[in-house]
Parts: sequence; C-alpha cells; structure tokens
Amino acid sequence: MMAESSPDKTRTVADIMSRPVVTVSPDDKMAEAAATMREHRVGSVVAVDQLRPVGILTERDLVRFTASGGDAGAAVVSEWMTAAPDSVGPDVDVVAAFASLSEHGYRHIPVVEADELVGIVSMRDLMRIAQIQPAENLAHEIPRGLEGVVVAETDIGDVRGLEGFYHYRQYSAVDLAESRTLEDVWHLMFEGTLPSLAERAEFAARVAPLRAIPAPVAAALPEVARLGTDAPPLDMLRTTISLLGAHLGFRPSLDVDAAQLRQDAMRVCAVVPTFLTAIHRIQHGLEPIEPDPELAYAANYLYMLTGTVPEPDHARAVEQYLISTIDHGFNASTFTARVITSTGADLAAAVVGAIGALSGPLHGGAPSRALDMLDAIGTLDNAEPWLRAAVDRGDRLMGFGHRVYKTDDPRSVMLRGVAERLGGPNVELAEQIEAKAIEVLAELKPGRRLYTNVEFYAGIVMDRCGLPREMFTPTFASSRVIGWCAHILEQAADNRLIRPSAQYVGPPPPQSVPPIS
Ligand SMILES: CC(C)(COP(=O)(O)OP(=O)(O)OC[C@H]1O[C@@H](n2cnc3c(N)ncnc32)[C@H](O)[C@@H]1OP(=O)(O)O)[C@@H](O)C(=O)NCCC(=O)NCCS
Repeated sequence: MMAESSPDKTRTVADIMSRPVVTVSPDDKMAEAAATMREHRVGSVVAVDQLRPVGILTERDLVRFTASGGDAGAAVVSEWMTAAPDSVGPDVDVVAAFASLSEHGYRHIPVVEADELVGIVSMRDLMRIAQIQPAENLAHEIPRGLEGVVVAETDIGDVRGLEGFYHYRQYSAVDLAESRTLEDVWHLMFEGTLPSLAERAEFAARVAPLRAIPAPVAAALPEVARLGTDAPPLDMLRTTISLLGAHLGFRPSLDVDAAQLRQDAMRVCAVVPTFLTAIHRIQHGLEPIEPDPELAYAANYLYMLTGTVPEPDHARAVEQYLISTIDHGFNASTFTARVITSTGADLAAAVVGAIGALSGPLHGGAPSRALDMLDAIGTLDNAEPWLRAAVDRGDRLMGFGHRVYKTDDPRSVMLRGVAERLGGPNVELAEQIEAKAIEVLAELKPGRRLYTNVEFYAGIVMDRCGLPREMFTPTFASSRVIGWCAHILEQAADNRLIRPSAQYVGPPPPQSVPPIS
C-alpha cells in the first residue's frame, strides 16, 4: 500500500505502471479496437508493430471517430491514433513523470525500455502518487482553488480534462446526448442504469404529475416575482425552492431514509422547469402555463415558456444541451450541494446553495455574456482588434477557458455540431470568432491552454431555439439540478461531514486584547 511506503523511497514509473499492456495493431479496424477497449475496460490501447509502440488510441479518439460518422468496420487504427507517441522509461521518478505528463497534457503514456513496450502509465496513477506528501507539507501543497484535489469517491461520473472526455456512470456523456432522451439519462443518474422501454414509460409517468407547482406555492409566486421584477430568474428560483421545501415539509437528510430523499429529489428536479418558466412569464406580465404531461422534458420546457409546442428539431437541440450539462465532476455548484448535504441539511437547502454557486459568471453565468460578446464584436473584421483589446485589458473572453479541460471541451464540440445542424445567421460568424479567439489567447496567454468551453455554443443553440438570454443560465440549472440531486443522494448514502482546514496567515496569536480607546 502507498501509505505504508517510506516517504524517502523514490517511486519509479515501473512501480506503478500497468502491465501487460492492452495492444492493437495499427492495421486493426476501429470496431475491433473499440471492442478490445471495452472488453479490457481500458481508456486507451497502444498500437504496436512487433513490440515497438507506434501509436496510442484513446477513448477521446473513439469519440472523435464516432462524431465523424466513419465506418468502424472499414476505418483502421492508424488513421485515428496519435502516431509516434512520447514514452517514458520505467526508471523515471514518479513526481518527475507526473510533471512532464501534465505539462504535455497527456493522459496515458507508454512505458518503453530498449525500444520495447513494457507497460503503460496513466495520469491518474501518477497524480495519486505524486500528490502523496508528508503531512507537515500538506498545508503548503494544496493548490489554490483546490485544483486537482480529489475530495471524494463517486460512481456518478468524471471528467478527463487532458483528454477532453467526460462520462455519466460508464457512458460517454456526448454519446448519451446523441442517442438518448433526457428522461433516460435522469434515470441513469438516479437509478444507476439506463431504462428499458417499459422503464422509460414508467419513469415518464412518475415524473409527469411531479411537474406541477403545489397550489399554495403557485399562489405565492406573483408576490415573490413582484418583489423582484428585475431580479435574475435564478435568484427567484432560490426563493421558490425554499418555499417548496418548506411547504412539502422536507426534513434534514440526516433524519430521512434513502427512499424519502430520492422522492424529494424527484420532486425538485421535476418542478424546476415549471418554476423557471412561471417566474419568467410572471416577470413579463404573462400567465404561467401548466405543464403538458404528454410532452417530454425539453419540449414541455419550451412549451411552458412560450405557450407554443416547439418544433421537434428545436426541442431536440435543447434536450441535447440539457443532457450534456447534467453533470460535470466536482464543479463548484455540485461540490456546494455535497458540502451542504454533508451537514445533514435537507435537500432544498443543498439545491438552493448549488443554485447560488451556479449563478456566478465564472461557473454558469457565462452563456448570455458569450452571446453579448459576439454581438459586441459584430463582424469578422472587428474580431481580432476587439479580442486583443479585451485580453490586453485583462478581461476574460466569455465561453473560453476551463479549470479542467486543457483541450477542446467535448460539450462545445457537440454543441457546435448542433448549432451547425440548426443553422442560422450567427453560426458561421461564431465559428470564425471562435477560431480567432483561440489564436489570440494562444498568443497573448501562452501556455495557459485556453479553448472554447460549453458556454460559447450553448448561447448560440439556445438563442436559435427561441430562449431569451436571461433564461440561459436558468436553463442550465434546469438540467444540472439532476446532477446535483444524484450527488446529494450519493453523499447522504455514505456521509461524512465535509470540513476542511485553512492555513492561518494573519498576525501571530495570542496577543493581548487592547482596552477600547
Ligand atoms: C472558467 C475559468 C473560471 C477557469 O479559470 P481557472 O482555472 O481558475 O483559471 P485561472 O483564473 O487560474 O486563469 C489562468 C490564466 O488564464 C487566463 N484566462 C483564463 N480564462 C480566460 C479567458 N476566458 N480569457 C482570457 N484569459 C483567460 C487568466 O487570466 C490567467 O492568466 P494569467 O496566468 O496571466 O493570470 C476561466 O477560464 C474563465 O474565467 N473563463 C471565462 C468565463 C467562462 O467562460 N465561464 C464558463 C466556464 S464553463
């Protein structure tokens, strides 16, 4: 066990690498390589010629391949792998290997000795070991913003930032968004499995009546909205979730069993879209619209907002966006929800806290700002001077950069495809501005690895589907609440109070308390 090893002992790559390595031939078909990865449950395979590694094929490459619509029975590994991959020697010190891998942004790296493949080491293995330090150093070692710090175990999902890949349970989230309904993915997040056709119908029937706002809470909404006519809908949502929890008598998660907590979670997830659309309509002097039990989640959301049943391609585009934003590792709002749940507080309290965290522009508040930026730039000719001036001033380009992704955000790749499918006047200009922004950031912020994040095309897609800008972040909340609740259920099921420490850096105590003068 790592914890038992002496801190003085240098650990080498050979100590932690996996072997034997799962390999393929560069001439294998992509379908065979994908089957090999599935069968061995690995995130990458090394392509070898004799014993010499000639390429590496990762899940990320599979995602790119699937997105390209290629024929897996015809395309071969050599066309999609990274050829001539860098490698590491078995005797290299783990901490040095970690530093070098993270600098290059690799996720897996073959271990090679005398030109022969002898193992493979993953970034995750290295990170785990490289971060184990003697306890007295820990206070100095924790990175600002907790970047990269592992704070819990979860089987809900994960983000592999260096690869540009994320997943819900064991499925690629992008694949789910391409092929499943939102309700299917909600079922996956709560129950741990994708539903059968019968389970899908049963789940939809269970959700439909939960969409309605309880009458006494609905009666209070106009008054709540009147008090904050210009308040962002997300702020009003915090208030309505508090009212709902109080009205339904949500009890501390510490005092209720898992079945009750799940019921509370179902209720909150089902009613959030109804709250948001009702708030928006009341703020605009319109009557709220009752949910339509015949409509699926996204179509019903657009219907409750506009009063018109949406065109199927708009409903599907919004549904894909919603699926792609349900969960995303230990982001700030999810972590907030788990911290609050860890105190044993009720589910409404945890969701209200998470909404607060999501509302900040560095987290969920960016898509409308990204669209504002496109409007401000206006033309391709204006893009470069505008972007340069903004970065020179120290502004952040909204829709770019990510704490975890140091390559393309797979959500932005998917949403760019959705935007192209929907078409519209903005899309081509957005693509040109995106390319310019990446160029400008690479030049003015070298080494930061800043690429497009989910928010850039989210704004374009939502705008095209008729969602007003002030509803962009609330729409994000309407799907992310499913992820928060999955995490709340997981946290409550195996809880320990989350209570970290801080390093005190003020004047040395104790000093005598001066008399008042
Ligand atoms: C998402 C975000 C908060 C992640 O930030 P982070 O991991 O804390 O990164 P940091 O704030 O440490 O930034 C690192 C460097 O990159 C720069 N940077 C990061 N994102 C940038 C952006 N969008 N535009 C310009 N510069 C950016 C920072 O200025 C900093 O530069 P410096 O080293 O010269 O000071 C950040 O990229 C951002 O503010 N993006 C814009 C808002 C946005 O799109 N939010 C939605 C997120 S899904």
